[in-house]
Amino acid sequence: MTARLALGLCAVLLSPGARAAPDPALLNDKPAFIADLMSQMTLDEKIGQLRLISIGPDMPREKIAGEIAAGRIGGTFNSVVHADNRMMQDAARKSRLRIPLFFAYDVVHGHRTIFPIGLGLASSWDMGAIERAARVSAIEAAADSLDMTFAPMVDISRDPRWGRTSEGFGEDPYLVSRIAQATVKGYQGPSPARADSIMASVKHFALYGAVEGGRDYNVVDMSPLRMYQDYLPPYRAAIDAGAGGVMVALNSINGIPASANTWLLQDLLRKDWGFRGVAVSDHGAITELVRHGVARDGREAARLAIRAGVDMSMADTLYLQELPGLVKSGEVNVAEIDRSVRNVLGAKYDMGLFHDPYLRIGAAVDDPPDLYAEGRMHRADARELARKALVLLENRNQALPLARTAAVALVGPLADSPLDMMGSWSAAGKGQSSITLRQGMEEAMRGKGRLLYARGANVTDDPRVVDYLNFLNWDRKEVFQDPRPPADMIAEAVGLAGQADVIVAAVGESRGMSHESSSRTRLDIPASQRSLLHALKATGKPLVLVLMNGRPLDLQWESANADALLETWYSGTEGGHAIADVLFGDYNPAGKLPISFPRSIGQIPTYYNHPRVGRPFVEGKPGNYTSQYFEEKNGPLYPFGYGLSYTDFTVSDISLSSTRMERGGRLAARATVANIGQRPGETVVQLYLRDETASVVRPVKELRDFRRVSLAPGESRVIQFDIGEEDLKFFNARLEHVAEPGEFEVQIGLDSRAVRSQRFELR
Ligand code: BGC
Repeated sequence: MTARLALGLCAVLLSPGARAAPDPALLNDKPAFIADLMSQMTLDEKIGQLRLISIGPDMPREKIAGEIAAGRIGGTFNSVVHADNRMMQDAARKSRLRIPLFFAYDVVHGHRTIFPIGLGLASSWDMGAIERAARVSAIEAAADSLDMTFAPMVDISRDPRWGRTSEGFGEDPYLVSRIAQATVKGYQGPSPARADSIMASVKHFALYGAVEGGRDYNVVDMSPLRMYQDYLPPYRAAIDAGAGGVMVALNSINGIPASANTWLLQDLLRKDWGFRGVAVSDHGAITELVRHGVARDGREAARLAIRAGVDMSMADTLYLQELPGLVKSGEVNVAEIDRSVRNVLGAKYDMGLFHDPYLRIGAAVDDPPDLYAEGRMHRADARELARKALVLLENRNQALPLARTAAVALVGPLADSPLDMMGSWSAAGKGQSSITLRQGMEEAMRGKGRLLYARGANVTDDPRVVDYLNFLNWDRKEVFQDPRPPADMIAEAVGLAGQADVIVAAVGESRGMSHESSSRTRLDIPASQRSLLHALKATGKPLVLVLMNGRPLDLQWESANADALLETWYSGTEGGHAIADVLFGDYNPAGKLPISFPRSIGQIPTYYNHPRVGRPFVEGKPGNYTSQYFEEKNGPLYPFGYGLSYTDFTVSDISLSSTRMERGGRLAARATVANIGQRPGETVVQLYLRDETASVVRPVKELRDFRRVSLAPGESRVIQFDIGEEDLKFFNARLEHVAEPGEFEVQIGLDSRAVRSQRFELR
């Protein structure tokens, strides 16, 4: 038993005025402990446990403490200061039954140290590294007195207009499911009860990434087949990995808002999937049932939500106000309240809070004087992850890597913007801690070449967008707008380019453009920056684009005109170092896209695992009467799984251990991967399966496995994938998960398009 745990137990056992409950003798028997505790709770105390409130910076602390001591609050979020959380926990310890609070926060891609955004993490295809990012996030968050995160966010997204695409892990159910498992494991560690673990609450359950037209908060209307096959697996994977919480989505699903959806929260989540944890609403979502038009008023909204199975109401007072009356009138029965209270108390138990309410808060004497002291940050991990997140999209004439001794003109509004480096949902990250690209390059070139810098353009000059971003801005700082006339800024940048050997332009979106509620109607780089790029191109100097953005962009002009394109997403605290590592060749990029890049907005949705059609378009054949767009080239600009390296890899000699698989059997698929270039490097070998004939329409292919391999120049290796009947399963028309006999094609390659194949038959 740790000293901290012993202290906590004493607190439970000995605090003044202690009653028999919670009975410490039962502390190691969860069901008995919770049953005993609940047997002593009044209805009001139970309802109090179902309230999750946001702690704003200006909220009166005394009033909150009073509410907590009166047993009217079950948990809080958005408070990350030890002293505040301790004060609130002290108040909870003064409540009649001394039930501890829990403290939650949106720790989505880092806490104090910020890792790349979700799309960036996913681009690494490195499950160990992603788990490590979640583990580090948990260690930092727990050290800041937090018990729970509202993450991972595993919404599949195939419409890049949706701003929250940035937060998720892309378009593919298999890859996102693997990441869901890795992140839950990372956050919760060996147990969510550990002092350095936090509980994961997977979100947004369910299907939030499929909002119609990519417009945030819009409706979702989806066939059950697609739901089961493509959108639900990642939530399920997180739950199977032990996620203790689920956050209910803001959208409706086939006409019923998720927050009032009994099928979703009872039949699917609890009965089919066996989820035993806590289901929290999203921010204000229960109140929104009135605006969805399924509840007349707040009272009806509370009734629908609690009966459907939303255990905690976030950031509203509806449960507190309405549930007592609803129980009295018999519209809600106590058993329904008890069900939710049991889930909340169960989660607190699992977080170790009944054993020690101060498990993560610690003692005042240990409070860190400086939360951002270097020793508390995890910069090496952040640099490692950020390097792995970078995806090289183009590299003509070996424009990259750059020589350190070169004269480089660094331009663009994102070249030196510390806040933007972090991306949205940057938790307790601080802009000042981020290394910008300018800083990273300066360090790398010190004493060698020459770095010339000019901003060149604002992210956007569109006043409507600027107003929107200012309104959104988390840090309450104005979005920086350089007041100089755009032509002057461009002229300055072009002038510097004239003195340089090469131009590096950091362009894209500011972080607020890829955020909650930031849906776009266009996917291009804003006009102010495009004008800059056109002027830079006209100089004739080699042009390297470093992209910072939270969604696939329309890069048709850029891909045709830039000499090199490096997708960096928002790469986090150490982003500037990591990008410089790649630009100067200290690290060979190996990231692969977790989401397809369409050629234009009109191609949306573009995703590699599209269901088959009766008149498929065939590359190189006339398009007439096939499924295509006649105005432009078909297929994505950059496919799922794509990404270049400074060396070249080949995949050859695909073979199967058998051309038949018996029921319950397995077979091995092998391929030789070779590094035929001049540098050591890593790549991701991807295995796709195509089900040739089935009782329902199946996708053209589906990712089923992948392996990251590292090879020296001239080295080759045989990679073996193991395929079992389980990998051939899909949901049939009766929503049964089955493998049907027939032919399958095994495809192995370095992206979803460039593959080689072999076939086998399942008998
Ligand atoms: C978002 C959630 C987030 C919550 C709490 C909501 O607006 O949709 O993802 O967890 O706020 O911050």
